[in-house]
Amino acid sequence: MSNFTNQVVFITGAGAGIGRATALAFVKAGAKAVVADINETNGNQTVELIRAANGDAIFIACDVAIPQQIEAAIQQTVDTYGRLDIGINNAGIGGRFARLLEQTPNDFDQMMAINVGGVFYGMQAQIRQMLNQPENGHAERGKIVNVSSIAGVRGMAMGAPYSASKHAVIGLTKTAALEYARKNIRINAICPVYTHSAMVDELIQAAPIMEERMRKVIPIGRLGQPEEIAQAILWLCSDENALFTGQALQMDGGLTAG
Ligand SMILES: NC(=O)c1ccc[n+]([C@@H]2O[C@H](COP(=O)([O-])OP(=O)(O)OC[C@H]3O[C@@H](n4cnc5c(N)ncnc54)[C@H](O)[C@@H]3O)[C@@H](O)[C@H]2O)c1
Repeated sequence: MSNFTNQVVFITGAGAGIGRATALAFVKAGAKAVVADINETNGNQTVELIRAANGDAIFIACDVAIPQQIEAAIQQTVDTYGRLDIGINNAGIGGRFARLLEQTPNDFDQMMAINVGGVFYGMQAQIRQMLNQPENGHAERGKIVNVSSIAGVRGMAMGAPYSASKHAVIGLTKTAALEYARKNIRINAICPVYTHSAMVDELIQAAPIMEERMRKVIPIGRLGQPEEIAQAILWLCSDENALFTGQALQMDGGLTAG
């Protein structure tokens, strides 16, 4: 397993699902975690789980759609832990399950503000900090992983704004990776298939038939688990993967192979 001892990781949307699993996995691998989320109760719960396992973490309330709040959260991270080694831009919403013509301007704007704005402003604040700090004895100045989706590489019926937002995350990732490669900052995206988290489990609860439908289209015959996605995020951030930047890694149980 990769060793992240003394590295500081900032994770948005870490109050639940993939973000929480990622925070727990980084701390288990030696990192100090900043749990950023709009949901204070859930964010604090993640920190409690980390501390119960003797890990080091703080919670910062932050709406990723508001650039000033991400800037302030990165500043608080540096005030607390002295630096920032890893940024995980994971916070996101699933939006309304509806056809294109039924999606409203508000549905579209909210999706873009959170799923795209959160990654854009997150990277700006993180890269600014990474460029301004000494290299911490690591071969790399910083690592960023943006959470896209399988809907970022293919269409998703009933989720046009979501699919558009996740395609945008990959464009942002590739472009930022090109711009900061020579500065020793690696930036990748991850594209998970349907994964058991509040986002998907609520959809399944509302329409139980959905689980069977999801399973049917995934060649391995099951949905992902947040812990599996977390492990891939750690792998992307590991210093042993220094050649890997500007990629969108598909974790899809074989879905896009066919
Ligand atoms: N679950 C899946 O099937 C799946 C598949 C592919 C990609 N993803 C992506 O993974 C990421 C995490 O989703 P999840 O499945 O863990 O969902 P989740 O709903 O369990 O967790 C999302 C977290 O983001 C937080 N959040 C939402 N809006 C925010 C905002 N404006 N500012 C700060 N925090 C905010 C929520 O409070 C929550 O804690 C999302 O970007 C999602 O699009 C999920």
